[in-house]
Amino acid sequence: MRVLGIETSCDETAVAIVDQSRVIHSQLLRSQWAEHRAYGGVVPELAARAHLQILPDLARAAMQQAQTRPEDLAAIAVTAGPGLIGGLLVGATYGQMLALAWDKPLLALNHLEGHALTPRFSDGIEFPYLLLLVSGGHSQFLWIEAVGKYRLLGGTLDDAVGEAFDKAAKILGLPQPGGPSLENAARAGDPLRFALPVPLLGRAGCEMSLSGLKTALRQTALRLPQPLSPQDIADLAAAFQSAVGRMLQDRLHNAIAMVDATAGRVGIKQFAIAGGVAANQYLRGALADTCAQLGWRLLVPPQSLCGDNAVMMAWAGIERLRLGQGGEQIVTTRPRWPLSEMTVPTESEG
Ligand code: KG4
Ligand code: ZN
Repeated sequence: MRVLGIETSCDETAVAIVDQSRVIHSQLLRSQWAEHRAYGGVVPELAARAHLQILPDLARAAMQQAQTRPEDLAAIAVTAGPGLIGGLLVGATYGQMLALAWDKPLLALNHLEGHALTPRFSDGIEFPYLLLLVSGGHSQFLWIEAVGKYRLLGGTLDDAVGEAFDKAAKILGLPQPGGPSLENAARAGDPLRFALPVPLLGRAGCEMSLSGLKTALRQTALRLPQPLSPQDIADLAAAFQSAVGRMLQDRLHNAIAMVDATAGRVGIKQFAIAGGVAANQYLRGALADTCAQLGWRLLVPPQSLCGDNAVMMAWAGIERLRLGQGGEQIVTTRPRWPLSEMTVPTESEG
């Protein structure tokens, strides 16, 4: 059962062909960052146009690389939201057109569901599991019970973690996207030189908050002689990253306690991370320490499946197809689409 996945919700144009035995037959991705760099952020209209230019060639190349003919495909899976509406429309319309032309079922999927189900693809794990989804637009602890059944345990009160890395990098004069460049700068830094506050430390629940930390970083940076020296930048980056790590560790403790109160009794102790920020080696290490302390298994997808990609969309399509879903004629794109509003396929549909 091969599914062609299309992802165009932000500034990555991605196409992949995946099958139900968790094999990637092709995985192509074009980051548009070069087009957006001059503006310091993603420009929605430019992104939509670039998707339109890139997508047809990318899809053709993905079919060729995978040596897949249209008749070999079981379905087409597209990201229908959440994301930038122009890009969503391009990807969804293109997928709808392929489905019509090739007479294939179409699946209009939630991008966040793609991230949420990634550990099932990368590690083949069973439900349920605890998930920390951390990307540029979202930061949530979720209890993943089944396809479509995602219980939100705690989200962010202000910025998403990836967004905070991007803003912190901007404060430090590091290039965008800020996550990787800040992580890189922090490698040469001393996390103890500056004491930045750990948000929400010791508070109940597993909500996150990052705007106070970002402000503290800016104030600390402004108190230093300008322009900042490379060592100042490295030390500030390390302090910021370490505060985020300690916050996530504290929040994970609480999320696990919340899950333990219910699912712990049946002995399920799997914690997975997903989303662009999950690529961060330092944060992975911090979360691994907490898991080791609490006797939980940590699952981390490979880097190529952490950020936005089409493999996760093709896989989410396979998960839903296996439960008898698919066959939408018209895609409704949704710029906002919380995971809590997902439909749960029933076994009887399959
Ligand atoms: O999931 P993603 O590719 O796109 C969405 O936001 O949906 O995540 C992108 C975010 C950006 O904010 C980027 O700075 C952050 O993930 N990111 C990182 C790292 N790599 C990417 N944040 C921290 N450390 C990293 N190594
Ligand atoms: Zn994403």
